[in-house]
Amino acid sequence: MTRAQREAELLETVRAQPVPEHVAIIMDGNGRWATRRGLPRVAGHHEGVKTARAMVRAADALGLRYLTLYAFSTENWSRPEDEVSTLMSLLERAIHSELPELMERNARLRVLGRTNGIPAAVRRGIDHVVHATRENTGLNVLMAFNYGGRDELIDAFRALARQVQAGELRPEDISEKVISAALYTADIPDPDLLIRTSGEMRISNFLLWQIAYTELWITPTLWPDFTASDLYGAVAEFQGRTRRFGKV
Ligand code: IPE
Ligand code: IPE
Ligand code: MG
Repeated sequence: MTRAQREAELLETVRAQPVPEHVAIIMDGNGRWATRRGLPRVAGHHEGVKTARAMVRAADALGLRYLTLYAFSTENWSRPEDEVSTLMSLLERAIHSELPELMERNARLRVLGRTNGIPAAVRRGIDHVVHATRENTGLNVLMAFNYGGRDELIDAFRALARQVQAGELRPEDISEKVISAALYTADIPDPDLLIRTSGEMRISNFLLWQIAYTELWITPTLWPDFTASDLYGAVAEFQGRTRRFGKV
C-alpha cells in the first residue's frame, strides 16, 4: 500500500466515527527542524507554512468545524529581530496566497489575538482575507496571531470591569458563560483536542481558559514533519478516549 492509500484508509476509518468539533494545534519545532539540517531557523518556518496549509486541507477532509493554529505568541516578539520580521512577512504571504483555496473550500479565516499589535501592513493583508471569507460557512480556520492567553484574559476582565463600572453588569452575574463570551473566542466552542508537536510538555500561554477540559496529545514529531496522517492518527486516538468531565 502506498502512503497516500494508507492516509486515505485512515481518513475513512476516522470519519466513520464522530470527529471532534474543534482541534487546536501548537505548531512547534520549526527552529529545531532547520538546525538539525544545518539550515537557518527561518528555513524551518518556511517548511512550517507548508505543514499549516496541509493541515487546513486535512481538517477540511475530516469535517472539523474549527481548526485553531497557534502561529505567533505574545512572547515570540522576544526572538531576534530578523526572525520576527521574517515570520511576519511569511505569515502575511501565506495568508494572502491561501485566499483562493479558502474560498474554494468555503472556509472562513478568523484571527485570535491582539490584532492592533500586529504591524499595519501585515494586519491589512490579514484583514482582507478575514473580510473576504466572512460569509463562508464551512471550516473555520482560527489563526492565533499575537496571541497570549493571559492577555486575552486581561482584555476580557477589562471589558467586564468597564461594563460593571457603567452599571450594565452586576458582579454577581459574572459567570463562566459571561467570561467565555468576553474572550476572543466568544462564539467558538472550547477545543476538544489540543495537539502540540516537538515534544514540549507545556501550554506556552495558549487558550488558558478554553482548555479546562480539552484532551491533550503531544508528539515528538517536529512541525515541518507533521502530516495529515499524523492529524488523523491523533483524532483516532482521541476517539478512543473517555472524557469524564469530573464525573465517574
Ligand atoms: C514554532 O517553531 C513556530 C513559532 C513559534 C513561531 P519554533 O520556532 O518555536 O521552533 P523551535 O521550538 O525553536 O524548534
Ligand atoms: C509556542 O511555541 C508558540 C507558537 C507555536 C506560536 P514556542 O516555541 O514559542 O513556545 P516555548 O517558548 O517553547 O514555550
Ligand atoms: Mg518552539
